[in-house]
Amino acid sequence: MYQFIQQFHSGWAYLALIMLVIAVINALIGFFSKKEFTPKDRKIAIFALIGTHTQLLLGLILYFVSPLGFSALGNMTDKALRLTSLEHPLTNIIAITLITIAWSKHKKLTSSHAKFKIFAIFYTLGLLLILKMIPWSMWF
Ligand code: HEM
Repeated sequence: MYQFIQQFHSGWAYLALIMLVIAVINALIGFFSKKEFTPKDRKIAIFALIGTHTQLLLGLILYFVSPLGFSALGNMTDKALRLTSLEHPLTNIIAITLITIAWSKHKKLTSSHAKFKIFAIFYTLGLLLILKMIPWSMWF
């Protein structure tokens, strides 16, 4: 169980990040070029939302089956354990909340410019937070 979820979380991270990077670039291009927000832009944004939510779900399961997750919480002097048991999960939950806020808020906005703007701000912030707290040394 642990190995399967750990590999799934590790592998899905590539897909989630690629989808999020594409959504950020698309939102920035749309915002700065003042394009019209089309169903294609909506699709790009929803793929990033689904990709990161799947990663969140895998992360939550992993957190309770991994020896580096919940069971390591408390050992805050070890930098690597602090990252996997506290900083990485907490930061990513905040990042995915920001991404979810952008998705729900864009539905209430009417202008294309405002839709691109909310995705450009919140998806970019989410991406930066995720990148900042990835346990890179474990991944590569
Ligand atoms: C978009 C969000 C996330 C991304 C991109 C991500 C990515 C990663 C990556 C690349 C690793 C290293 C994997 C490896 O060993 O090869 C990792 C480890 C880990 N992640 Fe995440 N993660 C995310 C969200 C979460 C969340 C929300 C949680 C918990 C609530 C979580 C819990 C963990 C744990 C416990 C580990 C250590 C697993 C182990 O090796 O035993 N992750 N994550």
